[in-house]
Amino acid sequence: MTMLFGGGAAGKRDQERKLTRLMNSTNRPPQSNFDASSLRDALSCFPTGVVVAATCGNQGLPVGLTINSFNSVSLEPPLILWSIALTAPSLSAFRTHPSFSINILSSDQQDLCMQFARSSDNKFSDVDWRPGYGGAPVIKDALAVLECRTYRRYEGGDHEIYVGEVMQIDSSDRKPLVFHRGRFVDLAESAA
Ligand SMILES: Cc1cc2nc3c(=O)[nH]c(=O)nc-3n(C[C@H](O)[C@H](O)[C@H](O)COP(=O)(O)O)c2cc1C
Repeated sequence: MTMLFGGGAAGKRDQERKLTRLMNSTNRPPQSNFDASSLRDALSCFPTGVVVAATCGNQGLPVGLTINSFNSVSLEPPLILWSIALTAPSLSAFRTHPSFSINILSSDQQDLCMQFARSSDNKFSDVDWRPGYGGAPVIKDALAVLECRTYRRYEGGDHEIYVGEVMQIDSSDRKPLVFHRGRFVDLAESAA
C-alpha cells in the first residue's frame, strides 16, 4: 500500500497541514472587487417598501426607526425579518423589549419616513399611536401593521438581524411608499 503521508505524530501533523492547505485553496471566498459604495449602489437597484419598526424604550416611551431591510420569512409559523445597524441608538430598546411592531408606510407618509430616519428622543411626539402587542407602539394610520414578538436575533456583520413571530395583523388597500435607488418612486398601477 502506498503511504501518502509519513507515519507517527509528525506524519499526522504533515497530513493535517496538507488538508488545511487543500481546504483553504478550494473554500476561500474570492477576493471582492467592489467597495462599500458600489455595494450600496447595487443593493439600491432592488425596490423596497418602507417601514417603521417600533418598540418600547426606557420607561415605556415609544422608540422607532425607518427601515427597508424588512422581508417575509415563513407562513407557518408566521415569521418576518429585518435588520438594524449596531450603531443605531434605538438598538438597545429592541434588545431589551420582547415585542415590536412593523408599520408599513403608505405613499403619503414620506414625512413620517424621514422623521423616523433621524435620531431623536421624541420621534412619536406628533404621531398618532397606540400600544399594541406586548406594549409595542403601533402607528395608527400605517398602511399595514404586523405586531410581533421577537423570535430570534442573529449577528449580521455591522447589523443585528431580528426575526419576529407575527402575533396580530392589520392592513388596508392604500398605495405603499416605495424606495428605489435612494429615492421615493411612484408605484405604477398594475393592470387588473
Ligand atoms: C429608506 C430608509 C431605509 C432605512 N433602512 C434601514 C435599515 O433597514 N436598518 C437600519 O438600521 N437603518 C435603516 N435606515 C436608517 C435609520 O432609519 C436611521 O439610521 C435612524 O436614525 C435610526 O434611528 P435611531 O437613530 O433612532 O436609532 C434607513 C433609512 C431610510 C431613509
